[in-house]
Amino acid sequence: MNTPVEGFSKLSKNQKIEWVAKHFTTDPESAKLLLERYWNEDPEVQKVHDEFIENTISNYYLPFAVAPNFLINDKLYAIPMVIEESSVVAAASKAAKFWLNKGGFKTEVLGTEKIGQVHFMFHGNDQKLKKFFEEVKPKLFQETATITQNMEKRGGGIKAIELRCLGDKMEGYHQLHCTFETLDAMGANFINSCLEQFAKTLKEEAKQYADFTENEKDIEVVMSILSNYVPNCLVRAEVSCALTALDEGQMTGAEFAEKIIQAVTIAKVEPHRAVTHNKGVMNGIDAVVLATGNDFRAIEAGVHAYASKDGSYSSLTHVKIEGDQFKLSIEIPLALGTVGGLTSLHPLVKLALEILGRPSAEELMQIIAVAGLAQNFAALRSLVTTGIQKGHMKMHLMNMLNQMGATESEKEQLVAYFKDHTVTNASVKQALEKIQSQ
Ligand code: MEV
Repeated sequence: MNTPVEGFSKLSKNQKIEWVAKHFTTDPESAKLLLERYWNEDPEVQKVHDEFIENTISNYYLPFAVAPNFLINDKLYAIPMVIEESSVVAAASKAAKFWLNKGGFKTEVLGTEKIGQVHFMFHGNDQKLKKFFEEVKPKLFQETATITQNMEKRGGGIKAIELRCLGDKMEGYHQLHCTFETLDAMGANFINSCLEQFAKTLKEEAKQYADFTENEKDIEVVMSILSNYVPNCLVRAEVSCALTALDEGQMTGAEFAEKIIQAVTIAKVEPHRAVTHNKGVMNGIDAVVLATGNDFRAIEAGVHAYASKDGSYSSLTHVKIEGDQFKLSIEIPLALGTVGGLTSLHPLVKLALEILGRPSAEELMQIIAVAGLAQNFAALRSLVTTGIQKGHMKMHLMNMLNQMGATESEKEQLVAYFKDHTVTNASVKQALEKIQSQ
């Protein structure tokens, strides 16, 4: 059995690799070579990556792709996407092209408000706490002035601080529910720094507040942290076209639209389907969030909470027919940054933002909402017509051939062959074996 290690973080990178390879792999020499092969040969570039996190022993590559031809509010974009799943970029590009000559995507930012909370316990009279809070509120702003001054100069800062008495949910529970405008920054550090100062001021001022009993003077701060649920940091994107423009092979535009309405309605009323429907949306969203160096866990958590806001988990996209117009839209909360954090550190993130024309956070919200909507449209279009597997397996063919060890010439022959044959694991294996036996 392996024994625990002491001081692992203090070992050099080579020592860490040595230790992991020796204790946890069956072929330590190959493991070491593999980890080293994925280092960047430029030590300066490697150092940047080493320092993002702790205990780095290698780099983990994901493909960086671009989906072109996205017309958003009459401006053309090529959208960078980082994702491991085949078909996603192809689907995005196909959807972009589909909507390109139908007016493209129209988007609108509905709000940019971020949220943070100081959670605390107060066992006393809520009326007195409310009076105390009103008196101490100016001090909460004053004592965060050094943190907020730069943000305020650019037009952002603390928007509001509200006291919430939540003793009915949990004995003694109260919070400062605070809202912020963080402009082009995601704002996590700014918000958390403000909140920790609010907590300190609150606690210190309570100790000296004459109207409080000794018990009431002892406010117990539990934690101060931003919320990743930002229902007022909201963006909307929409595509629309005449029903006749939706003609799909065997189906008329009206029949196709009706199928899409059924599919979206199922996702609205049935959580099992809603989760998969929204997973497809997130294929587009996460890929751009990652490419632009944003926090995909924060986005995922916030978006899924929003999908449940009416009491049961439901579709993030909406569809309707108005007159002869088909309209598919999405409305999602996205707290994003285009300055600070990874955006100024990761060379490929900088490039992704350059490809997008150095967007503001608001512009990036709109681009990412579009990526989600495009992905949803592409998935629904396949699902209600040919089924998802046809296109998916075609895109997956190269992965299968690589796994089966096909040579370049075999791959070329088989890609041509499967243009008009059904791709399954068995059919690919059989076709490869046939070529190899010739
Ligand atoms: C696969 O990654 C995503 C889909 O399942 C989404 C959907 O079903 O809507 C195709």
